[in-house]
Amino acid sequence: MTRPPLFPALIILLTAHSLFAQPRHWPGDARGERLIDSLIRVMTIDEKVGQLVQYTAKGRDSLPGPSVSAEQGELIARGRIGGIFNLWGATATRAAQKIAVERSRLKIPLLFGLDVIHGYRTTFPIPLAEASSWDTAMVEQDARVAAAEAAASGVNWTFAPMVDIARDPRWGRIAEGSGEDPLLGSLMAAARVRGFQGGDPASYVSIAACAKHFAAYGGAEGGRDYNTVDMSERTLREVYLPPYKAAVDAGALTVMSSFNEIGGVPATGNHALLTGILRNEWGFRGFVVSDWMAITELIPHGVARDTLAAAALAFNAGTDADMESGAYRLFLPRLLREGKVTSPLLDEGVRRLLRVKFALGLFDDPYRHSSLELERSTILSPDNIARARDAGRRSIVLLKNAGGLLPLSKNIRSVAVIGPLADDRADPLGPWDALGRPEDVVTLLEGIRNAVPSSTRLLYARGCTIEGADRSGIALAVEAANDADAVVLAVGESSAMSGEAASRSTLDLPGIQNALVEAVASTGKPVVLVLMNGRPLSIAWAEAHIPAIMETWFLGVQTGNAIADLLFGDYNPSGKLPLTFLRTVGQVPFYYNHKNTGRPPVDTSKFTSRYSDLPSSPLFPFGYGLSYTTFDYGSVTLSPEVIDTAGTVAVDVRVKNTGTRRGEEVVQLYVRQDVGSVTRPVRELKGFQRIILAPGESRRVEFSLPARDLLMYDDSMRRVVEPGTFTVYVGTNSRDVTEGHFKVRER
Ligand code: BGC
Repeated sequence: MTRPPLFPALIILLTAHSLFAQPRHWPGDARGERLIDSLIRVMTIDEKVGQLVQYTAKGRDSLPGPSVSAEQGELIARGRIGGIFNLWGATATRAAQKIAVERSRLKIPLLFGLDVIHGYRTTFPIPLAEASSWDTAMVEQDARVAAAEAAASGVNWTFAPMVDIARDPRWGRIAEGSGEDPLLGSLMAAARVRGFQGGDPASYVSIAACAKHFAAYGGAEGGRDYNTVDMSERTLREVYLPPYKAAVDAGALTVMSSFNEIGGVPATGNHALLTGILRNEWGFRGFVVSDWMAITELIPHGVARDTLAAAALAFNAGTDADMESGAYRLFLPRLLREGKVTSPLLDEGVRRLLRVKFALGLFDDPYRHSSLELERSTILSPDNIARARDAGRRSIVLLKNAGGLLPLSKNIRSVAVIGPLADDRADPLGPWDALGRPEDVVTLLEGIRNAVPSSTRLLYARGCTIEGADRSGIALAVEAANDADAVVLAVGESSAMSGEAASRSTLDLPGIQNALVEAVASTGKPVVLVLMNGRPLSIAWAEAHIPAIMETWFLGVQTGNAIADLLFGDYNPSGKLPLTFLRTVGQVPFYYNHKNTGRPPVDTSKFTSRYSDLPSSPLFPFGYGLSYTTFDYGSVTLSPEVIDTAGTVAVDVRVKNTGTRRGEEVVQLYVRQDVGSVTRPVRELKGFQRIILAPGESRRVEFSLPARDLLMYDDSMRRVVEPGTFTVYVGTNSRDVTEGHFKVRER
C-alpha cells in the first residue's frame, strides 16, 4: 500500500541529492545479511511477526527485580516475542534469554530494552543538564558508562537518546532533551549514540541506541504532552529534524516513532516521515519501534477505526516493531492473509530487527550482556561515581554572582542550608532514573558538609515542602539564616514535575517556595540560590533580589558534592544555557534563533512586536553562563571576506582571561544571513569551542566556517547556500557578541 508523501516534491528532490550520509557501524554486514536471509527463508509468519512484538516484562515473582511472566515465557518459547523491556539484572535476563535460545525453534535471541536516559544505576545529570556543559566528549563518556552498567545487567537496548528539540519549557520532557538549538542538539545526539553504542555495538559494554521521538514530539502545542504538532515543513526540516538525522548518521541502530501527529498525520502512521525521510532520504537501516501503545493510539487520533486498521496503517507506514500494544501480534498475520500487508514488507521489517540483533553480536553470544561479575564490578564503581561528580559540576550554570559573592570561603564560620531540596535524596535523581536509588544520592547538605572543615557550623532548615502550602517552617528558616554568615537556599521542582506527562501551565516555583525565598532574602544575609528543576523556571523576582543564583537542574547521585565544588571554588563554573530563560511563562515560545519580523521589538515603541507589560528580552539568553573569572573578547577577523558557495571563511577572535582564576569558556559562533529569498533567524549557532585560560592568558580562537554550514531551504524548498552578505557573531553567549561580516558570491 502506498500513501501520499507528506511533502512529495521535496522528498523526490532530496532523494536525488546525495546529501545524506549512510549510517555506519553495521559490523559484519555481509555475514549478517546472509544469516538473516537464511532465517527469513525458514521462518513462519507467526515467527516473523513475533520478532516485531515487544512487551514489558510482566512477571514479578521469584527474582529480586522483574521477570517475564509464565505466559510470556511460553510466547518466547514459541517465537512470538522478539524483545522484552523493563527487565534487568544478569540473572533475570539470562533466564529469559535461555528460553529464547534453548526452547524456541529458531533460537533467535531477545532484545532487552530499558529507558537508560541519564545513567543506569550511577545516575548522571539529566540530559538537559548535560547539554548545559556543551561538552560532547563528556556526554559521550557518560553514555558509555551508562551503557557498560546496563549491559552488565543484561540490558542491550536503551530508549535513548531523546533528541527532540523543545522551545516550550511547559513541556515536561524538555528535561530529557538538549534544549532549543538544532546544532547543539545534533552534537549531543551524536555524542550519546556514540557513547551508548561505542565504536562496536557488538562489544559487551555497548548497547543499541534508540533516537526518539521521531518526529517533532517537542513541538506539542501549548507544551502539553502528547498534543498536536503543526508546523511548516521549513521549521520541521531546519529546526526539529537535524538531531534525529545526526543520531542516524552516528549509527543509531533504532528509532522510536512519536505519539504526536504532525499536520494531521500521526507519526506512528506517517509514511512520509518513517519511510520517505528516515529510510529513503537518510538511508536508515535499523528498525523503528513505536512508542508505548502508539499503534493503538492511532484509533483515538482518528485515523484508524480499529486495532486491525491501526496495525495496517502503522506497519505500512514504516513502524517495524510494536511496543506493548499487541496490535501486530493480534493482526499482522491476518493482514498478510488479506493482502493488506505484503510479504516483502513483512520480511523487510523482520530483516531490520534481526540486523540490530546481529549488530549487537547476539547471534554470536546471546548472553554477552548479562554478567554477574561485571554487574558487581561495574555498577556504581568509584570511577563511575567520580564521572558523575565531574559531569555534575560541568552541568551547572552560574546565572548571577553579584559582588563576587561566590565562591564562598571554606573558612566561613557558619552556613544556613535551607530549602525543600537542600537535604532531598530522591528528587535530584530527576525523571527517568532507571535503577537510580535515593540512598546513592549525596544531598546538597551532605555535599556542603563534605566540603567544609568540621569547625564550620551548618544550620539546616527545610522551610517548606516543594508543593505544600504549610508556612509554619518559614520562621525557623529565617532564624537559621539570621544565625549564619551566608545562606545556601535550594528550591525548585520535584523530579515528578518533569519528564513524561508532566507539563505545567506555569513556570513558577511550586507551592509556597517564593514566600520562602522572599522571607530568607529579607534577612539581608548573603544568599546563594540553588535551583533544582527539570526546566527553566520564572525566577524574575529572585534575579532582581538575590545576589547569587545557580541553575543546577537535577544532577544525579553526586548532586551535593558537585554543587559544593562550585560553592567553595573547587571548580570554576563553565556551564552555558542550552535554552532561553524567560521572564514569565507568557513569553513562550521564545527562543534565540527567532525571526526578526517586520517590526522587531523596541521596548519604547508601541507598534512593534512586543508585550506591553514586559521587556522584550529574556531573563537570560541562550548560551549564557558566568564563571568566577572574566573573559574579554577582542574584535573578530574574517578571512577571506568574500567566498564562493564552496568556500570557507576563517573566523578569528582573541579571548583573554581578565580575572584572577583559571577558567573554562565556551566560545560561541553565530551567523545571520542578512537577506535571503525567505526570512532567516536573527542568529544561528554554527560552532563553539571550549578553552581553558590561566589568569591573564589570552588565546586566539579560530573557527572554520564552510559555506555548507550556511545551507538553508530557499523559497522553493531547495537546500542551497544563497549568495549575499552574512554577519558573524562571536561571544560568550548569544547576546553578548562581537561581530564581523563576509560575503558569499556565486561560484
Ligand atoms: C515514552 C518513551 C519510553 C517508553 C518506554 C513511553 O511512554 O514516551 O519515551 O521510551 O515509554 O518506557
